Amino acid sequence: MTHPELTLTERRPFHTQRRDTWWLQPLAVFVGLGAFIVYATFRVLEGEHFISGPYLSPFYSPLLFGTDAHSLEHSWFGEMPSWMPALITPAALILWAPAGFRFTCYYYRGAYYKAFWADPPSCTVSEPRKGYRGEHSFPLIIQNIHRYFLYLALIFLIILSYDVWVALWFPDGNGGKTLGIGIGTLVLAGNVIFLGGYTLGCHSLRHLVGGVVDLLSKAPIRRRAYNCVTCLNERHMLWAWMSLFWVGFSDVYVRFIGPALGQDWITF
Ligand code: FES
Repeated sequence: MTHPELTLTERRPFHTQRRDTWWLQPLAVFVGLGAFIVYATFRVLEGEHFISGPYLSPFYSPLLFGTDAHSLEHSWFGEMPSWMPALITPAALILWAPAGFRFTCYYYRGAYYKAFWADPPSCTVSEPRKGYRGEHSFPLIIQNIHRYFLYLALIFLIILSYDVWVALWFPDGNGGKTLGIGIGTLVLAGNVIFLGGYTLGCHSLRHLVGGVVDLLSKAPIRRRAYNCVTCLNERHMLWAWMSLFWVGFSDVYVRFIGPALGQDWITF
């Protein structure tokens, strides 16, 4: 059998024979992810308006240090130390963990390599560079840290679930608290659901629960866990975007909508 001879020719950047709108997806990723990064940076640096009633913004959870009397109720270790530089807000102390988890996510890597530095711009579209060192060499080899960020992301999921529990308790008018439910409670619960779908469908988690045994069929519990993770993993991109949007919306709710609405809850 003979094989046709293939010759690689040097092409100008972004050259392609594709006729479809291949640039649309990277552009959408650039706009969507870029908008989120700009908004999140603004909120991290703002350092206030992260609590509304019993609702704590997920950008500030866990709240290690409070910055005023109201936030002290939610804080783990009391007041923010006075020696802390002004740029280090309570969000800056913790957001590196979920941000690192997303930044190193296998899906996002594929998406932002294309959208932010055209590496490659898309399949069968030539790159504006000649060399390619891949993720086996520095600096991108650092992306392998993703599996460790996963453990932190799982802890954050538990903490955010606890925030939903806290968001079920409202002032009863006598100095105590009573059970209820508000729009903010539903918003924070939605955040946990979407983040759960994203985190529990992680490729690294899939490997963790099912990747070490030789015969998965002989480990029924692991096989079931593996199937569950796989089921979420099949829609990982969708979960990634829904959770990104919803975590941003949850913060918008706590920052802008909740205070504007006032009492958004009913008690039982
Ligand atoms: S691969 Fe996307 S969260 Fe792990």
